[in-house]
Amino acid sequence: MTDPLQATINDYWTERAPSYDDYQQRPERRDLDAKVWSAIWSAALPEAPADVLDVGTGSGHVAFLLADLGHRVTGSDLSDGMLERAREHAATRRTAPRFVVADAVAPDFPDASFDAVTGRYVMWTLRDPEAAVRSWVRLLRPGGVVAMADSTWFTDGLGSLYGERPAATLPLADARCIDETADVLRHGGLVDVLVEPLESVLELDRSHGVAPGHDVQLQYLVTGRRP
Ligand SMILES: C[S@@+](CC[C@H](N)C(=O)[O-])C[C@H]1O[C@@H](n2cnc3c(N)ncnc32)[C@H](O)[C@@H]1O
Repeated sequence: MTDPLQATINDYWTERAPSYDDYQQRPERRDLDAKVWSAIWSAALPEAPADVLDVGTGSGHVAFLLADLGHRVTGSDLSDGMLERAREHAATRRTAPRFVVADAVAPDFPDASFDAVTGRYVMWTLRDPEAAVRSWVRLLRPGGVVAMADSTWFTDGLGSLYGERPAATLPLADARCIDETADVLRHGGLVDVLVEPLESVLELDRSHGVAPGHDVQLQYLVTGRRP
């Protein structure tokens, strides 16, 4: 991976991995969080067992839930630190996903090898989200689904999160409306694209709080289908 922006993103997430993952593991929220997100993914995905690629898996939040639902899951990321955390968790689990280094924008898997591609909090940080969607369409079997959870996190601009690089180089980082993400799914070749507000996550965030530096805000599930 030689893209300098992507290298910066990878380093950022590797440095953040321990605190990010520790926050996800907070015992006071973990069980309820798993219940809420499992219901969201169950409703969006084909019946288990399906072959699912979770892109930008981080420390594996989505991947582990999907494995627990009975899916055959591949979690992929470019951050070594995040993947290290994911593999540490996997070592303690009976039903564990496999975790691999792979670029969400250009994933190197055989054509038509997955029934679903998932991602949570990933679309906003992709350097070329439309190219990513096109590659996911290629990886999906006919009728397969893409399901992306995200929000409009940086409507006032990304600032210096990834250093001084302009947010313009990440097309969805400063999206003002989730329809921008839906349009990327459409332009990437998916049909039946839908946006669902995740009220259950909003409730959870209101009652249990969100990570330091974040505000409680509505998140969405954006889904589409390979024709
Ligand atoms: C906000 S974290 C989300 C992690 C996880 N999906 C979750 O829900 O906790 C964003 C993740 O996307 C990963 N990422 C960013 N760009 C990527 C790319 N091009 N390919 C693969 N992973 C990427 C980062 O390394 C990071 O782990």
